[in-house]
Amino acid sequence: MTGVPRLLYGTAWKEDRTEALTELALRAGFRGIDTANQRRHYFEAAVGAGLAAAYRAGVVTRAELFLQTKFTYQAGQDHRLPYDPAAEVATQVAQSMASSLEHLGTERVDSFVLHGPASGYGWSDEDSEAWAAMCDARDGGRTRWLGVSNVSLRHLQQMTAAGGEAPTFVQNRCFARLGWDRQVRAFCTERGIVYQGFSLLTANPEVLRHPLVARIASQHRVTPAQVVFRFAQAVGMVALTGTTDAEHMRQDLASETVALADDEVRAIESLSG
Ligand SMILES: NC(=O)c1ccc[n+]([C@@H]2O[C@H](COP(=O)([O-])OP(=O)(O)OC[C@H]3O[C@@H](n4cnc5c(N)ncnc54)[C@H](OP(=O)(O)O)[C@@H]3O)[C@@H](O)[C@H]2O)c1
Repeated sequence: MTGVPRLLYGTAWKEDRTEALTELALRAGFRGIDTANQRRHYFEAAVGAGLAAAYRAGVVTRAELFLQTKFTYQAGQDHRLPYDPAAEVATQVAQSMASSLEHLGTERVDSFVLHGPASGYGWSDEDSEAWAAMCDARDGGRTRWLGVSNVSLRHLQQMTAAGGEAPTFVQNRCFARLGWDRQVRAFCTERGIVYQGFSLLTANPEVLRHPLVARIASQHRVTPAQVVFRFAQAVGMVALTGTTDAEHMRQDLASETVALADDEVRAIESLSG
């Protein structure tokens, strides 16, 4: 999709290193940044400081970036909330969005994602309310696109059956043992939704150790991690990496140029699940 990089830099779990690592990622060449207004796992204001440092240094301009943030329900937060917990969910969405724009020093993000549905079992009325408020934020010019995260096929089916607007993005943890989230990816493909995969390395240690992946990596003179990122892109995913290592940043970005053959992609896809 135009304007969406194939690899996003994830800013979770970086705490005091968030600002420096965000700037380093931009200097390394990342043009997509994933964050969330969830202080428990992300330090969004420090992401904004990293962006500002990169703008000041002339590394990149806002227009060249894809910025994605998320709205997180109170159940997924600690005490550092970006909204009034007593307010209705629609107000919380608006407050969270206003706070994200301030943190990131922008008037509009590129993507605003529902971090996770209220229940693991299905799409709820609360989710419909939050989603409607997110659509309002989009209609008000505060985000270009919308997404949902941590969703099952059931969530997506119920969400769209309820007449709700489909998301532009689905962001999920991608387990190879579930056919690399096969069912959700198939749903996304059918509807032109862009699938974003995270934990591609950490959820799949057996793949990184697999002899097939080792053989493919050695044939292409790259690392197994690079094979996994390239595989993800080859099957249509946008991949996320939150590496804290400059050399891994370079390798993760370079994975886009690994020329995997179709049969190699198919072999990795059917490794498990
Ligand atoms: N929507 C959600 O609920 C959700 C949940 C989790 C994550 N996310 C997003 O996804 C991003 C990525 O998270 P993640 O779960 O995929 O894990 P991650 O934080 O990116 O961890 C990746 C691990 O792989 C290592 N690694 C990265 N590139 C490597 C390479 N080329 N070679 C060897 N090791 C490499 C990293 O180590 P080094 O640091 O040493 O490179 C790190 O230990 C997060 O920052 C966040 O933005 C979203």
